[in-house]
Amino acid sequence: MKIVVLGSNGQLGREFVNYLQTTENKIFAFSHSTLDVEDLEKIIKTFRSINPDVVINCAAYTKVDKAEEEKDLAYRVNAIGAKNVSFASFKVNAKVVYFSTDYVFNGKKNSPYIEIDPPEPISIYGESKFWGEQYTREFNSNHLILRVSWLYGGYGNNFVKTVIRLAKSGKPLRIVNDQYGTPTYTLDVVKQTIKLLENARIGIYHSSNIGETTWFEFANKVLEDLGLESEVIPIESKEYPTLAKRPKYSVLKNYFLELEKLDIMRQWKVALGDFINNYGEWLLNE
Ligand SMILES: NC(=O)c1ccc[n+]([C@@H]2O[C@H](COP(=O)([O-])OP(=O)(O)OC[C@H]3O[C@@H](n4cnc5c(N)ncnc54)[C@H](OP(=O)(O)O)[C@@H]3O)[C@@H](O)[C@H]2O)c1
Repeated sequence: MKIVVLGSNGQLGREFVNYLQTTENKIFAFSHSTLDVEDLEKIIKTFRSINPDVVINCAAYTKVDKAEEEKDLAYRVNAIGAKNVSFASFKVNAKVVYFSTDYVFNGKKNSPYIEIDPPEPISIYGESKFWGEQYTREFNSNHLILRVSWLYGGYGNNFVKTVIRLAKSGKPLRIVNDQYGTPTYTLDVVKQTIKLLENARIGIYHSSNIGETTWFEFANKVLEDLGLESEVIPIESKEYPTLAKRPKYSVLKNYFLELEKLDIMRQWKVALGDFINNYGEWLLNE
């Protein structure tokens, strides 16, 4: 298959490119600087010259707090950018893959969100991603949307790396203990996406690792797996005010993957352990 990856320098984009390069697929990777999702004409021209089977759209504006101040940019990239990519992939008969987020939900539920639950974003980021989902659907019926949560991996910045950096600084860590979600390893998202592509699936799928935790417990597990000692103090969200509101509870249940017997996402602690095994030494010396 000919596969285009957009946003190829981001943490998920790089995971896709690295993984797909070990397969028989032909990969065409574009970073923000080589293909801007805001530039519809260039996207169409590029896709026409490649004629891809699949377009994996990992391009996104992901600064959750800054989005409250840079609203226009968040909508341009996450919503209009998604529309451009979806429409351009439709024009060349390619399947389009979009990644969305647990932050499309308001967090008022106290059991895991399934695909049927109505989104009600409470931040600009969440709303821009929700419109990205809508547009991806609307402009190419041959689409796949995977909602993922609390991503980490070897590439780019993420919570795991922040925890390690803070722990190494020797200062106590103050981490929020009243927001519930599921940490998810980018490698698992890549493998789950490929599984869905191989099975010619379409539509929306919750695709996070399994189980639930808080940021505080997540931080403790990272330190435990790495054998790092550090004082971690649990705090409430109100003690750490942020520009964007975050859902209190945004655990995703991979309901449709389960119904279709396609769920290969691992328990979050198992995936984290695997990540630490792969990258632990390197993370500690970074
Ligand atoms: N990170 C998470 O915890 C999380 C949670 C749930 C869902 N998601 C979703 O998962 C997907 C992957 O996230 P990620 O963590 O890999 O994000 P990321 O590391 O921020 O990567 C996003 C990439 O998109 C690029 N980009 C930004 N604007 C662009 C534009 N106009 N045209 C082309 N590329 C552009 C960025 O490049 P520059 O940096 O050069 O601008 C960056 O390389 C996103 O859709 C995100 O919304 C992420």
